Amino acid sequence: MRIGFFDSGIGGLTVLHQALRILPEDDYIFYADTLHVPYGDKPKEEVRQYIFEAVDFIAKQGVKALVIACNTATSIAVEDLRRKYDFPILGIEPAVKPAVQKWEGKRKKVLVLATNLTLREEKFHNLVKRIDHQDIVDSLPLPGLVQFAEQFEFNEEKVVPYLREALSSLNLSQYGTVVLGCTHFPYFEKSLRVLFPQEVDIISGSTGTAKNLRRILEAKGKINEGTGDIIFYKSGSKVEDAETLSRYKKLLTMLDELQVKNTAPIKL
Ligand code: DGL
Repeated sequence: MRIGFFDSGIGGLTVLHQALRILPEDDYIFYADTLHVPYGDKPKEEVRQYIFEAVDFIAKQGVKALVIACNTATSIAVEDLRRKYDFPILGIEPAVKPAVQKWEGKRKKVLVLATNLTLREEKFHNLVKRIDHQDIVDSLPLPGLVQFAEQFEFNEEKVVPYLREALSSLNLSQYGTVVLGCTHFPYFEKSLRVLFPQEVDIISGSTGTAKNLRRILEAKGKINEGTGDIIFYKSGSKVEDAETLSRYKKLLTMLDELQVKNTAPIKL
């Protein structure tokens, strides 16, 4: 059986990309709810409905596990989804914990970048309350990056001015780590690097989620059941046109190029 990946759009590919490194001998379904992206600026109840429709569709295809490769969807629906379906469901949330552990008591702060909905949600507030005892975590929504990504606009000349404006009220030199709390954001690491001091860590939860996926499937004896094949769906229909498929593959390759050198490229 395949492993399912779900996001509002192409952000989920940044998590799938990590899974392809860690579990290259498995097959995947990647579902992007492109009809309803962005989730981050819509009312919570509306987004919950989209998520359940999408996951119902994915469940009908038959998956051995599902990764909600979207921080926004995880924060509003992961527990309810786990109650409804009997396959393992993994989520992704902003990697606040390792960032706070690194900088607590060291005069640097942590900046979490995510969608409006993620940052408003109780799940995020509870996470920060649990971990951030010295009040070193700041947060900022960057909905424009979701739009840029969905338009396949990664050009630094377009993106950097947006980021400069969005970040203008913050003193960027006070941060030790920037947490990418939206799966659409890793595409923009280069543009973020233009603005933040070079020594700032830029991290996301995608490697952790992929490692958890491997651990769960390994424990069930269900890994290495494929060849790295991916079937793509957009809001309930299979993607068959060559242009979209090649765009998706190009994004995975682009993520490979963004990875730290000396890690092997993924097989496509
Ligand atoms: N990729 C999503 C996330 O991780 C949501 C982007 C959106 O649809 O607003 O939060």
